[in-house]
Amino acid sequence: MITQSHPQQFQQPWYGMFAQAAPEFPTTRLPILSGAIPENLKGSLYRNGPGRLKRGGQRVGHWFDGDGAVLAVHFDSVNATGVYRYVQTAGYQAEEQADQFLMGGYGMLPAGSLWQRLRQGATKNAANTSVLALPDKLLTLWEGGHPHALDLNTLETQRLDDLGFLAPDQSFSAHPKWDPISSEIYNFGVSYSKQGHLHVYRCNQEGAVQRQTKIPLQGLPMIHDFVMAGPYLIFCISPVFLNPLPMLAQLKSYSDSLQWKPQQGTHILVIDRESLEVVSQGEADPWYQWHFGNGYVDDQENVVIDVVRYADFSTNQFLKEVASGHPHTQAEGQLWRLHLDPQTSQVLETYKLMDRTGEFPVVDPHQVGQAHRHTYLSTRPTSDPTTELFREIVSFDHVSQQLSSVQMGDQAYCSEPIYAPDPDHPGQGWILTVVYQAASHTSEVWILAAHRLEEGPICRLGLPSVVPMGFHGTWQPSL
Ligand SMILES: [Fe+2]
Repeated sequence: MITQSHPQQFQQPWYGMFAQAAPEFPTTRLPILSGAIPENLKGSLYRNGPGRLKRGGQRVGHWFDGDGAVLAVHFDSVNATGVYRYVQTAGYQAEEQADQFLMGGYGMLPAGSLWQRLRQGATKNAANTSVLALPDKLLTLWEGGHPHALDLNTLETQRLDDLGFLAPDQSFSAHPKWDPISSEIYNFGVSYSKQGHLHVYRCNQEGAVQRQTKIPLQGLPMIHDFVMAGPYLIFCISPVFLNPLPMLAQLKSYSDSLQWKPQQGTHILVIDRESLEVVSQGEADPWYQWHFGNGYVDDQENVVIDVVRYADFSTNQFLKEVASGHPHTQAEGQLWRLHLDPQTSQVLETYKLMDRTGEFPVVDPHQVGQAHRHTYLSTRPTSDPTTELFREIVSFDHVSQQLSSVQMGDQAYCSEPIYAPDPDHPGQGWILTVVYQAASHTSEVWILAAHRLEEGPICRLGLPSVVPMGFHGTWQPSL
């Protein structure tokens, strides 16, 4: 075990996981703290997120600026090994050598005077948002650029990867959708020039592009996620627009150049999955979302979408404040359902599914694009509404309208729930999450039975050192 000193003087119990750069660890057999690994759980959990929020005494401008570090936990039904590595991006290596932040990012300007920033104003690919497991490599995803390719076992960084088709200005977002029927992978990227463009990609299961398209956008919106619903790809483009001038003048970061313009409403864009051509476009009320849970076509031929919906874009300010340990902006997202006519993009009905504040909505990966019964989210317990980060995982049953939940316990914080299907029992599986125990300043991997969350973890694994809460991950079953 790598020993770590307990960080002193952190602001909130959860800030202990961000107070110092998370140390890497090599492939290590993980101790079982309680329970046993389910026999059918064979494969790898991969998670990505910022591992370092400070360098050379300076703090990042926004949580999204932290250097990406990937956790892999490989399960063989009896044992589990873990490995944690920073993505060796060019920016990370340069800053590691200089021991200071040099480059700009989502929420920070490059180092130096205005003149130096204008001359050298490069943006760092943070490689910190999600991962996509392909047969021969693990991609780390960041929506502002190309992915990095890592070794699936060791997490050694291999290269910045254009996947054989991405032009230099084309990005590959952090929310690809895998179709469980065809094994196709859909994704998008937004490029900014005088006009914004949405690039939409259909790839095969190896990641080779089969078709792509380029759709002009109104203004320069920020787009983080989309929905696959039956034969459609659907974008709900919230009214958050980049004002490019202060960013190009190196006076404001990208994040600080984003403007919330509710008068413009949410733009709905429905795309045919096969042709990648636009089916319809329309306008809806303004809201903001980072993430969709899932989408499908119902028996009325309408689209049903689950989304964690915010009233406005103040969530971005809250996430900026997390990096300081002193969040004070109120930003509460709840799970909503949306019914949409795909032929007109008209929203037919929209309503809140549950009151609890939550994020990271997921479904069984075998139900992506199809009707799903359960949605899983990380939430704040109602008994502790002041806690900024998530301390509970809930399952919402769309048939019974009932919630089941598991709380992490006192001063314990979860990350995104990741669904690992049981290969022998369709419809069943496990929820995997990384838990930070603030009292002991340790991190654990929890395995929960997806349909029996309230029974608590059926297995807890100890990690050698703290792996801070990150953003997204994936489950890759053994072949
Ligand atoms: Fe995301």
